[in-house]
Amino acid sequence: MIDVRDLSIRINDKQITDHVDFNIPRGKIITLVGESGSGKSMTISAMLGMLTTDINVSGKVIYEGRNLLDVSDKDMKSVRKKDIFTIFQDASNSFNPSVKLGRQMYAYSGGRIGDTTDVFNVKMLPVLDKLGLSWDITEQYPFQLSGGMLQRCMIACAFYVEPELLIADEPTSALDMVLQKQFIQLLIQLNEERGTTILLVTHDLDIVAEAAHEMVVMQQGRVVETGTVETVFSQPRHAYTKRLLESRF
Ligand SMILES: Nc1ncnc2c1ncn2[C@@H]1O[C@H](COP(=O)(O)OP(=O)(O)O)[C@@H](O)[C@H]1O
Ligand SMILES: [Mg+2]
Repeated sequence: MIDVRDLSIRINDKQITDHVDFNIPRGKIITLVGESGSGKSMTISAMLGMLTTDINVSGKVIYEGRNLLDVSDKDMKSVRKKDIFTIFQDASNSFNPSVKLGRQMYAYSGGRIGDTTDVFNVKMLPVLDKLGLSWDITEQYPFQLSGGMLQRCMIACAFYVEPELLIADEPTSALDMVLQKQFIQLLIQLNEERGTTILLVTHDLDIVAEAAHEMVVMQQGRVVETGTVETVFSQPRHAYTKRLLESRF
């Protein structure tokens, strides 16, 4: 679905990523794993065309036959709006503290795909229900809900939008273990029920084992290993991957 080829990112003299290559297969959950600072978030920002112009990016990000690094800002905005939904580490930062959740969730879901608020009200109700959220939360402000609930609101928007690709960058780092597990189950559900392709960034190998079909291992800006989770877990080839797997227990 998306082919990242030879993606190199440089800031001034600092090489952030070096010829990163990986493929996101349609319908799969693929995870990007690697220690903090290995270039995972920068890779995603580059893919989404969200890096500032002073950052040097080379390579290709092929999506539906087009190189996303070459498309106009306008076209890129449209891709981000319709096809790709992104969830970041801390949902509370994604919501404006002084606006009720209903309005913000509309903006993240119905609004962005052109639904009226009436349509939103009808379509969002069963989604919230399914995720164990009551409609009352739409009348609340973000500070009235926990981080876990806000992350759930975000995923409700993803269920609503049914994007081609969901990118989640360390979505559970701010959650406790129980909420992490629940959130990952929701991602799996989204993938199984709607066929949503998911790129999940995490440094948690338990999450990888539980959720992902394929994995890409990054170390210091380079991809050192790719493969199905089964293969990489049972036969890691790179020393870094071996170390990662050993440190799990
Ligand atoms: N705006 C920036 N300017 C300079 N260096 C940056 C900037 N943003 C990130 N970096 C550097 O890029 C590297 C990769 O960062 P990042 O992609 O956030 O890593 P990860 O998401 O894997 O933890 C890090 O060394 C970080 O210090
Ligand atoms: Mg990151």
